[in-house]
Amino acid sequence: MKKTRPPARTEGGAQTAESADAKVAKKNIRTPQLLRGMKDLLPRDEYVWQNMFLKAAELAKAYGFAQIETPVMEEAALFIRSIGRSTDVIEKEMYVFEDRDGTKVGLRPEFTAGVARAYISHGMQTLPQPVKLWSFGPVFRHDRPQAGRYRQFHQLNCESLGERDPIIDAELIVIAYNFLRDLGIEPRVDINSMGSPQDRARYVEELLGYLRTKRAYLCEDCKRRMTKNPLRILDCKEAGCAAVVEEGPQIIDWLSEASKQYFMKVLEYLDEVSIPYMLRSTLVRGLDYYTDTVFELFAEAPVKEPVEGESDTEGAAPSSAQSALGGGGRYDLLIEQLGGRATPACGFALGLERIAAHVRALQGMHDPATDPDRPRIFIAQLGEQARRRALHVIEDLRRSGLIVRHHLGKPSLKSQMELANKYGATHTFIIGQKEVQDGTVIVRDMESGIQETIDQRKIRVEAEKIMKTKTVG
Ligand code: HAM
Repeated sequence: MKKTRPPARTEGGAQTAESADAKVAKKNIRTPQLLRGMKDLLPRDEYVWQNMFLKAAELAKAYGFAQIETPVMEEAALFIRSIGRSTDVIEKEMYVFEDRDGTKVGLRPEFTAGVARAYISHGMQTLPQPVKLWSFGPVFRHDRPQAGRYRQFHQLNCESLGERDPIIDAELIVIAYNFLRDLGIEPRVDINSMGSPQDRARYVEELLGYLRTKRAYLCEDCKRRMTKNPLRILDCKEAGCAAVVEEGPQIIDWLSEASKQYFMKVLEYLDEVSIPYMLRSTLVRGLDYYTDTVFELFAEAPVKEPVEGESDTEGAAPSSAQSALGGGGRYDLLIEQLGGRATPACGFALGLERIAAHVRALQGMHDPATDPDRPRIFIAQLGEQARRRALHVIEDLRRSGLIVRHHLGKPSLKSQMELANKYGATHTFIIGQKEVQDGTVIVRDMESGIQETIDQRKIRVEAEKIMKTKTVG
């Protein structure tokens, strides 16, 4: 006879009404959505992101950089004074709000300002100079989301503070270049000099004089920029503006002799280590603190973003030619402007989401089953006693530095074997009721299917032997 559940006892049908209410309420529950322009980094992204972090840490160590973690939130004034009130980043993109005690705070739109603040607040000018600092973490800009453009994204940031020497600028470019190269990307470096503030003032005057005669050909944004931030007109993407700019005066011709010499030295050092670069006279960067050298890095072979499996980006992809993988430059006046001692500095930041997209396009999705560093052994168990035994085995092996895969739930032996294959295990150690009693373990070669029984005390030695042969397949 088919068993049916007895109806819930109700007082005057109250229970029934309640569950109907609950159903209605459930229907009305709205699952919170990911914010626009934000992105989850999923387990499938782990391999690429960990690899980027490890490469960054390796390079930082090689070039003598120490890691610094500044807060994601600082006084909004720090960013406004550093990046410049009339830049897009501050005017349109920074997340600013009052916190609960009325302090006006900003989510960092970049690292440089926070690092400069930390340099001052920790008295780093007393350390041997330059102080070289690197960071890896999230930054926030309320930008219009597109492929490769997010509202929370990550940067690898390097700053060298306390010395003015063209070789430092060149070294930073070399580091950024090598980071990309190590990840398999062929980088291109665009470079320019913005000279000293005096050079720039003379140039802006000249540029404005020229632009006034061409005002009719400029877009509305650029007309506005003429009074607010004329240098931004140089990298306007509108065809009309670009044509006007191309005919106009170039900043390089307005550099003082000293600024020119400085820039030439940077280029010579880049030549010395065969870093290919392209002089781009319109490169002025979107942040106000730069002096002298400015640069941006691109991929020689751009990928179309988003890549396969990424459905969380919106709108049209920006032309890849426009999406820089990184940028940076010298900022000799920032620390003084923030109230510190005059401290020349130079740095760069790389956009890690864009780089990750390139790495995935180049390498395809990571397959854990073929990773040469994957754990080669799967521990399978059957029955409660075996499960307890497996706990000890896994822990003993881990303490000896041997990482194994396992599934300690109650799956069948068959599904544990399937899992072992999925992980690319070359051997499975099987522990059942009998093995617990005999103090043994079955070692199964996953390829040949050959099984042998060994003493449980020999597990570690056997595991070490298997791990040592890991270069084979
Ligand atoms: P930035 O050019 O503003 O420079 O940003 C560096 C990189 O961050 C860009 O080249 C790009 O790859 C990435 N990026 C920028 N905005 C987004 C976005 N909305 N979504 C995804 N990626 C983005 C700076 O931030 C300076 N602080 C660099 C620096 C350090 N200069 C001196 N020291």
